[in-house]
Amino acid sequence: MKILAVVGSLRAGSFNRQLASEAAKMLPQGVIMEIVDGGNLPLFNEDLEYPPPEAVTRLREKVKSADGIWFFTPEYNHFFPGNLKNMIDWLSRPVSPTEGQVLQGKPAAISGASPGISGTGIAQDHLRVILSYLDMKIMNQPRLIIPNVLNQVDAGGKLVLKESLPYLQKIVNSFVSFIIG
Ligand SMILES: Cc1cc2nc3c(=O)[nH]c(=O)nc-3n(C[C@H](O)[C@H](O)[C@H](O)COP(=O)(O)O)c2cc1C
Repeated sequence: MKILAVVGSLRAGSFNRQLASEAAKMLPQGVIMEIVDGGNLPLFNEDLEYPPPEAVTRLREKVKSADGIWFFTPEYNHFFPGNLKNMIDWLSRPVSPTEGQVLQGKPAAISGASPGISGTGIAQDHLRVILSYLDMKIMNQPRLIIPNVLNQVDAGGKLVLKESLPYLQKIVNSFVSFIIG
């Protein structure tokens, strides 16, 4: 089984990317995770759609070959970041006149961490709306919302999960079961 982790941050030290890496370490045997972000995608432009940029084709292939997509989103101004919206806009478009968009029917999980008290919960709710519109099969529970993440970050900026660790393990197990169905 393959899970594609889509990280909504381009920041080198991103806590959300680190969270995805921590989740990857907890996967049961036989399950692998690949982590991607939208840093190499051009801004969506209908003039660029056909033929699509290579980076878009590569991302679509990764989505197609994945059994589930796990979004790790930061919260920017109570929303998910623009680069994640850009990724989703590309993925939301039909691949060709004979092939539809690649997100439809894919199992999806949403998680996130932030230094603030909302812990990405509001961004996650917004993300859920758009993924639902795109007909993804969303796991609504359990959710992983990590507020005050700096309490679980060491002096070097490394995420060192403490109280959130069991919740991460729980959502890993739940998402694998959800994908199996
Ligand atoms: C433009 C901008 C807006 C932000 N708005 C919020 C917010 O609404 N809620 C929140 O909890 N944190 C907010 N933050 C702080 C981010 O949660 C924080 O920078 C976080 O580390 C980003 O995730 P990352 O570590 O994965 O890059 C904002 C940060 C930026 C740069």
